[in-house]
Amino acid sequence: MPPRLFRKKTISELISQSESAKYRLKKVLGVMDLILFGIGSTIGAGIFVLSGIAAHQHAGPGVVLSFAISSIACAFAALCYAEFATVIPLSGSVYTYSYAVIGELMAWIIGWDLILEYGVGAGTVAIGWSGYLTNLLQGVGLRLPLWASCSLTTGHGGIVNLPAVLIILFVTAFLIIGIRESSIFNMVMVGVKLTVIFLVIGAGSFWVQSENWKPIAPFGWFGVLNGASLVFFAYIGFDALTTIAEETRHPQRDLPIGLLSSLGICTAIYIGVSLVLTGMVYYKDIDIHAPLAHACGRVGLNWLSPIVAGGCVIGLTSVLLGLLLGQSRIFFAMSRDGLLPGLFSRVHPRFKTPYISSILVGIAVATAAGLLPIETVAHLCNIGTLFAFILVSISVIILRQKRPELHRPFRCPFVPVIPILSIIFCLFLMAGLPVGAWIRFGIWLVIGIIIYFLYGFRRKLRVEGGK
Ligand code: ALA
Repeated sequence: MPPRLFRKKTISELISQSESAKYRLKKVLGVMDLILFGIGSTIGAGIFVLSGIAAHQHAGPGVVLSFAISSIACAFAALCYAEFATVIPLSGSVYTYSYAVIGELMAWIIGWDLILEYGVGAGTVAIGWSGYLTNLLQGVGLRLPLWASCSLTTGHGGIVNLPAVLIILFVTAFLIIGIRESSIFNMVMVGVKLTVIFLVIGAGSFWVQSENWKPIAPFGWFGVLNGASLVFFAYIGFDALTTIAEETRHPQRDLPIGLLSSLGICTAIYIGVSLVLTGMVYYKDIDIHAPLAHACGRVGLNWLSPIVAGGCVIGLTSVLLGLLLGQSRIFFAMSRDGLLPGLFSRVHPRFKTPYISSILVGIAVATAAGLLPIETVAHLCNIGTLFAFILVSISVIILRQKRPELHRPFRCPFVPVIPILSIIFCLFLMAGLPVGAWIRFGIWLVIGIIIYFLYGFRRKLRVEGGK
């Protein structure tokens, strides 16, 4: 294999490239923006929809433990992410880290894999968003025409999921106008989302009946593990922070705080919500489409039901914002490195955002969300993200050995124990996913490798030849 497949970019090469005027992004985000971006891009379909499916079909009241197990895997991975984010505070997240540590081919593979986390994840959330909106509209007597309410592939008589397409295009427009504006928009949405969640926990806790928590694991402990593999989706997004490192004022101080705080806050919320949900409604009676709104209605909190549904619509929008932002920044970084066409790294002269990258990502994700069903995309998104977490953990160990002298403003504690635990936990969660997800993931990676050799590798040679 030609050695250039393992060619690495030095960390200083990566940093000076980001500082050139051509690729400079606006540095405007502070620690609070980061925490809110973390929460905004994390709390969404995982808790609003998948918690119900996990409790009803896999874990019963043990879904609380499923959330706890997934959060441990994420905490180990977050410590590894935090170390990298301070050594290499650049757009591109784990893609950029693997370019610096393992080499070009692996960087390409991981960039390709991250499309599953961000692009496919955004598509999944948009389809969930559309479901909640449809519910909300039905509540006030409005009905979308069937052709526009779901995709052909769902087999329910629709043609295209129009609300999913429109919400992606709307969020994309915000991302083009500017990171600061997106951040303000995000703050408002996170405020609404948190208010609704605290209302559910606060009002719902009066209706908890401890008998509903028995038995804790009606489907056995494997059920709890399967539940953990599914609700892992709820944590996806906290790492999106690392993709906006270049737009952060003090990345080395603020990124670790942002990563660990948003993960901690989300974990506490998930445990609280799942305790209340399974305490309010016996697991067999939990609704799998809109579990929170349904649970409120079931115990007589009818006034809260539409508020929860509305909050979910708004809350899911902020997840879309985070995931679409992450995807466009990863393409931006890959294009800057010559692995994708130059269009993806063109910065808008006035808005200072990678607008073409955002537009192309928006169109691709809107098309997918308009035409695909939700179930399989969620599993694909989980397996891709777990793979990315494993690579970050491996890279931390490698970089510690190869470059022990590097200044690390944040150091992951107990290396290599924590990164190894992170790898074990992620593999464990991957093992709980269905075989179909593994097959689709394998096919996705093979397609990516073929594209690299047909396009990325050659383009990179052309770009470097032209220098
Ligand atoms: N964690 C995000 C959600 O649950 C992707 O919607």
